[in-house]
Amino acid sequence: MTAPPSPHAEIVVDLDAVRHNVRRLRELVDGPALMVVVKADGYGHGMLEVGRAARQAGAEWLGVATPEEALALREAGDTGRILCWLAGPGHDYRPTVAMDVDATAATTHQLAAIAGATTDRPARVQLKVDTGLSRGGAPRSTWEPLFAAARAEEQRGRVRVTGVWSHFACSDEPDHPANDQQEKAFREALDLAAAAGLRPELRHLANSAGALLRPSSRFDMVRVGIASYGLTPAPAVVSSRELGLRPAMTVRGEVVLAKDLPAGEGVSYGHTFVTERPTHVALVPMGYGDGIPRHASNTAEVLVGGRRGRVLGRVCMDQLVVEAPPGVQAGADIVVLGPGDDGEPTAQEWADWCGTISYEIVTRIGGRQRRSWVGRSWKGTR
Ligand SMILES: Cc1ncc(COP(=O)(O)O)c(C=O)c1O
Repeated sequence: MTAPPSPHAEIVVDLDAVRHNVRRLRELVDGPALMVVVKADGYGHGMLEVGRAARQAGAEWLGVATPEEALALREAGDTGRILCWLAGPGHDYRPTVAMDVDATAATTHQLAAIAGATTDRPARVQLKVDTGLSRGGAPRSTWEPLFAAARAEEQRGRVRVTGVWSHFACSDEPDHPANDQQEKAFREALDLAAAAGLRPELRHLANSAGALLRPSSRFDMVRVGIASYGLTPAPAVVSSRELGLRPAMTVRGEVVLAKDLPAGEGVSYGHTFVTERPTHVALVPMGYGDGIPRHASNTAEVLVGGRRGRVLGRVCMDQLVVEAPPGVQAGADIVVLGPGDDGEPTAQEWADWCGTISYEIVTRIGGRQRRSWVGRSWKGTR
């Protein structure tokens, strides 16, 4: 069961920002097709809503992890190209193939399962090679047998190999030697695929950081996730503002209680913060049960009553306490994170405070907050 929403906390996703980002990425990468990655509920922004906005802005492809995510997009009416890449042993690919979703094979077993799901036309399959991430993908020793098996299935009319692809490990560190090594290995895989007689329409390697920072890795398509949501994939190298991207998510709410604490008062569980002076505090109705990281305890800030206030003490399950400017009362506006235009913290700042990446901040946020989507052509709440 999803939690009933609170009237005091919400996530607002700006679909105009998503559309802007997709168009901006098109300009920045200049040439290859764009796949907008909308897995994990659109990195917390809403898979269906972001998928639709991405299509409106011209995304030729949507990318998801699981076949189930792909089918949810189809059921919501998406008719464009979709690639999925994460299915387990014994997976039944018939719905995926029937719904014209491109499936990924990294082993001959997966290839056979996809080919076996073919109906009246060949199943579309993309072959994933592991070029050095050591996660999904066919290891080097299996590339030739995989390509040969795929070619044989093509000749039997059961599959069409629409792509050969791989994924970077270190593209957010442009000088990391793994980038050159992976790109070299990928080119070798493409040569071997061609030698096996495969003529995939798409060769793709780059995620957001590769797409933006390593032009040689763009090939026929780039798979952009985080940058579509307006967040930089490589904060140590370039900010989202410098890239001309607009963060799409705002998390806001209202103060549910405000009060004055005397000096020497311990705040929240464990009393990890003790007031040094009389302090006005505000209670924010969001906690780790709503995706606010507990690592934010005593470090993160929110905008409260128009000013930054630090989290005092530990983040609790449903609430957290922040220092508030004098005069802030229950009902005052709180902005937990947003684009940063009005002084509110960004998801990147939260990531820095919590020792993580902005991906994790936005993907995990959500519990009892209402979620709504704003933008020129669409408004909704879920
Ligand atoms: C296979 C694959 N491609 C592309 C992406 C998009 O990556 P990013 O959000 O860094 O652009 C992801 C996300 O992790 C992924 O798993």
